[in-house]
Amino acid sequence: MAISVGSAPPGLTLVGVGPGDPELVSVAALRAIRAAAVVAYPVAREGGEGMAAAIAAPWLEPGQRRLPLLFPMVPEAAPRIAAWHAAADALAAEVAAGQAVVLLCEGDGSLFASSSYVLLALRQRHPHCALRVIPGIPAVCAAAAAASSAGIPWPLALQSEALLIRPTPDGAAELESLLEQAAGAATVLALLKLGQRWRWVRPLLERRGLLPNALFAQRVGWPDQLVTPAVAVPPEERPYFSLLLIRQGWPPVLP
Ligand SMILES: C[S@@+](CC[C@H](N)C(=O)[O-])C[C@H]1O[C@@H](n2cnc3c(N)ncnc32)[C@H](O)[C@@H]1O
Repeated sequence: MAISVGSAPPGLTLVGVGPGDPELVSVAALRAIRAAAVVAYPVAREGGEGMAAAIAAPWLEPGQRRLPLLFPMVPEAAPRIAAWHAAADALAAEVAAGQAVVLLCEGDGSLFASSSYVLLALRQRHPHCALRVIPGIPAVCAAAAAASSAGIPWPLALQSEALLIRPTPDGAAELESLLEQAAGAATVLALLKLGQRWRWVRPLLERRGLLPNALFAQRVGWPDQLVTPAVAVPPEERPYFSLLLIRQGWPPVLP
């Protein structure tokens, strides 16, 4: 694909780069990345590499300027709001200076992503900044595909089923009630931010007889990907990049 660095017109493009495997970047994403003069990406600490930047690394060009944007992962609101505002201001300043800028987002930029806050901050603070959004493959879809590829068919939703993508609840009572609601409403659950919660989530699922219905997925798309029936994963802390799919029933009409 012969696209020269900086050949895109001035503007900001939010680019979803998928969950880990650089091959899962879309053609549109690849074109936007290649044509950018400035490549921005989230980092959780000063000097950090950034997940999205690591995913897109094979597609970056030496002539592109890197712009790491610090989004601290802290519970307090003030530092997070300040970071979103600072990121929006920095990106808008690059665009105002005539640059073609991409902001890389892990997975899809509309799902629990820093780029969504940047999008909101931009609309508020720099409403005239030229902006485009390119979707990416969410980790949940990549996990289902990886399971199906491994011989564990995992359609996310069929017929009148619902799919609920949300963070794993913080406590057992909340998860119990979520499981009951999901069972009653034919809802498949996709629980993100599983990591340290797996310690208590696993015994809870086992007590309810739900372990055979659950799929565990960790670092999907990375060389050390682990996608396996949840029963195979001991109740220990897992990495932040892990999720759980729970299907408590199937529609009546199936092949
Ligand atoms: C802040 S959310 C980002 C979601 C992302 N924007 C997407 O579209 O998938 C982070 C959570 O997504 C899940 N996640 C993201 N990438 C993952 C991966 N490669 N493997 C497993 N889970 C992942 C994990 O549950 C993690 O805690």
